[in-house]
Amino acid sequence: MQAIIDELARQAEADLAQVTSKETLASFWQKYLSKNGQVPALMKNLRTVDAAERPAMGKAINELKQKVQADYDAAAVRVNQAELAARNAAETVDITLPAKTRPTGGLHPLTLVRNQIIDAFAGMGFEIYEGPEIEDDDHCFTRLNVPKDHPARDMQDTFYLSDELLLRTQTSTGQIRTMDAERPPIKVLVPGRVFRSDSDATHSPMFHQMEGLVVDKGINLCDLQGMLDVFVQKLFGSEVRTRLRPSYFPFTEPSVEVDVSCFECHGKGCSLCKHTGWIEILGGGVVNQKVLRNCNIDPEVYSGIAFGIGIERIAMLKYGINNIGLMFENDLRFLGQFHE
Ligand code: DAH
Repeated sequence: MQAIIDELARQAEADLAQVTSKETLASFWQKYLSKNGQVPALMKNLRTVDAAERPAMGKAINELKQKVQADYDAAAVRVNQAELAARNAAETVDITLPAKTRPTGGLHPLTLVRNQIIDAFAGMGFEIYEGPEIEDDDHCFTRLNVPKDHPARDMQDTFYLSDELLLRTQTSTGQIRTMDAERPPIKVLVPGRVFRSDSDATHSPMFHQMEGLVVDKGINLCDLQGMLDVFVQKLFGSEVRTRLRPSYFPFTEPSVEVDVSCFECHGKGCSLCKHTGWIEILGGGVVNQKVLRNCNIDPEVYSGIAFGIGIERIAMLKYGINNIGLMFENDLRFLGQFHE
């Protein structure tokens, strides 16, 4: 009997050395310790042993049982730890991998530029006024010194809702509306949508402008250039300058086209400035005395300056966009390039 016990102890030890997983651990338990296992089987055999040897054998079997159980318990701890370690290794998070990001929204390039323009002028004390997109002939043309038979109307053909009502062609309408509503000093910016019968790579039937108007005592062309210098430097960089060239608009006298020194080549000449060193960015001038009079403001006491900025034009220059249509197609591959 002792020989059988010793053999079983040796076998159990050898088997346990092979245990590496939960599965082999379970089979070990089944083979040796379960109700039908080999250790309880020895106990049953005890009956066949001589009565004289029985207590000693019983003790030996009990010791075997305790040893196998203890070895089994130790193996169970070992297997569990090994499996946990293996799982931890397999599930290791590589924190250097780029994170998965969710797509987020951003501002449209026209909104970005509009906000930048507003920021620049708000810093100089301008207030924002927004007028209606459906206008009457008076506010859009006649009181801006463009009478019904004036040839300047040809350049601003638009969509008419009736003989008198139309989609405004310019935010200059805001000049009349603010001067009707307020007395000088006036300092307003009028952002808004405007409409014209016009469509090519750089013109769209609907586009955006930003009008500026200052009316006070002693306002002159130098004030216009000073303010526009601040504006272009905010938008295009501190090294740029403005240049005024004579022009014509019915509602300003004198009228000017305003150029900015090329922010791409800094005056050396490049394709953006068509090798002139200058880029035309807006129109403006001293408010025509007739316009002041049309709004019951005495030109002997007050004077004003005005300017009109095309927001698409500024955005296209600033971001190097060569087709205005891209602004309105809302292709996310285009829009995504402006997210900050
Ligand atoms: N309204 C003009 C246009 O749409 C732009 C403009 C020119 C506005 C001169 C002004 C200005 O206020 O003084 O072409």
